[in-house]
Amino acid sequence: MLIVQLSDLHLHEYPPTLTPAHCITLIESEISRLQRRREPLCVVVCGDLSYQGNPLIYDIARGFLVSLRERLGNRATLILCPGNHDCDENAPAGSEFAAFTSSASVLGQYAWFGNAIRVATRTAHGVDFVVANSTFHNDHLYGKVDTTQLEEHLIESARRRNRTVLILHHHLLPREARGRSAVWNADDVYRLVLEHEVPLILHGHIHEDAPRIANWRRGALIGAASLFSLGAENGFNIVRFGRSGARRLWVYRYNHLERRFDRKSVFVRPWR
Ligand SMILES: [Fe+2]
Ligand SMILES: [Fe+2]
Repeated sequence: MLIVQLSDLHLHEYPPTLTPAHCITLIESEISRLQRRREPLCVVVCGDLSYQGNPLIYDIARGFLVSLRERLGNRATLILCPGNHDCDENAPAGSEFAAFTSSASVLGQYAWFGNAIRVATRTAHGVDFVVANSTFHNDHLYGKVDTTQLEEHLIESARRRNRTVLILHHHLLPREARGRSAVWNADDVYRLVLEHEVPLILHGHIHEDAPRIANWRRGALIGAASLFSLGAENGFNIVRFGRSGARRLWVYRYNHLERRFDRKSVFVRPWR
């Protein structure tokens, strides 16, 4: 399976050299180049689709995702995860994101979150995408995961004998520049990841120039850059996910002079 990891769309503004339409064309051509015959395709958006919960920006994000979906056709499964910018602190946790994903049903599969649903699983091609809402506590300053619900979903995934990909918005490794914004209870999340042998974690929020990759014996953690934010390097990742987990990673960074994405290939787990 090819997993396209997008994050932090923040489409309230974008670089003039990287319009949404141009970006979709480039992403689609990279997928066409990498995708093997009959290889399943999944596009994951790791949160911050909107900006400060603004409904108008949700409309722009919806337009981007609909266009991407039209370009990819039925071959792609789309999984959406909420970020801190997708929730209004004055509204019930996740309500804007829930409304967005509900009204965007044309997009196909999505992660829906109500007040009580903090972890959701979407299954595609034998892979359980377990999406944890790390913003459910309604404080945009840090991430937190409901580990009770996460454990229930991981147990259920193991019972089905599916492979599991954990998706969340906030990062699990602290970044000095981002202060206390990492997942507050990351130690509990890691304990569950190791116990249940989750082979891949995808996250966003960091907006950082360098790819953030951590490997351990049985898995990998991969952070994505912001796709459109001004002032940051813009990029995305593509992961080849097989029976033993993530095997290859292609990291893309936008070259504004050449108006194309530069690509770097990384072996995620060379010992396998
Ligand atoms: Fe963000
Ligand atoms: Fe964020």
